[in-house]
Amino acid sequence: MKGILLAGGTGSRLFPLTRITNKHLLPIYDRPMIQWSIEALVKAGISEIMLVTGGTHAGEFLRLLGNGHEFGIDRLSYGYQERPGGIAEALGLAERFADGEPALVMLADNVVGGSIRPMVEAFCADPRGARILLTPVEETEHLRHLGVPELDGTGRVVRILEKPEDPPSRFGVTGIYCYDPSVFEVIKTLEPSGRGELEITDVNNHYVAQGSMAYDVLEGFWGDAGESIDAYYAVNDYVRAEGANRD
Ligand code: G1P
Repeated sequence: MKGILLAGGTGSRLFPLTRITNKHLLPIYDRPMIQWSIEALVKAGISEIMLVTGGTHAGEFLRLLGNGHEFGIDRLSYGYQERPGGIAEALGLAERFADGEPALVMLADNVVGGSIRPMVEAFCADPRGARILLTPVEETEHLRHLGVPELDGTGRVVRILEKPEDPPSRFGVTGIYCYDPSVFEVIKTLEPSGRGELEITDVNNHYVAQGSMAYDVLEGFWGDAGESIDAYYAVNDYVRAEGANRD
């Protein structure tokens, strides 16, 4: 299983901090944010990773991570997104890296308290279609900033709504996904959304429609440190007190 870390975007929700660096290089407790997602992948047994970034601070990743060996990565590749074209477009840049293997994709501003290994193992056991990781979210206002699944009476995902005004469930879709190699063909069929981007939720809804979408519900803490300045500090407070990626 290969790992693809998506660390692009303009970071507009964290302006002006992100005028001087990439969002994923801002500190979360005692290290740059990107290191927490790298640790999540490495601890789940993934040691071939491609990092896709963009914008004006891309070179800083190389300065921090080098060849990745210090962080437990065997082979670290880099990709560069020329314009902010969305998460799915950034993922499309990893097609040759994935080279026909299944991939774990993680948005590098996501931080988890526990391990993502159970999801990785479940997908490796049956590496077809897609698998997403859901997290219970109580607050309606928070759900309005996330992808939210609509579930039927048997718990199957019927569709995923991106940032819904009226959330159809109390689960958020985290930025942690497993895909089989068909994902790169799916991305080629996408049309830009209202905000001019190729949306990962459209990729996921393709698998939902095909009946090949599975999910796990994450236990423990999940945070998206790029969601807002308050979310950034909430993730910092959590990690400082409890750590992250605990076994
Ligand atoms: C993205 C996805 C959204 C998901 C979120 C998790 O949103 O589009 O479905 O819930 O990541 O971090 P974004 O952070 O790009 O607004």
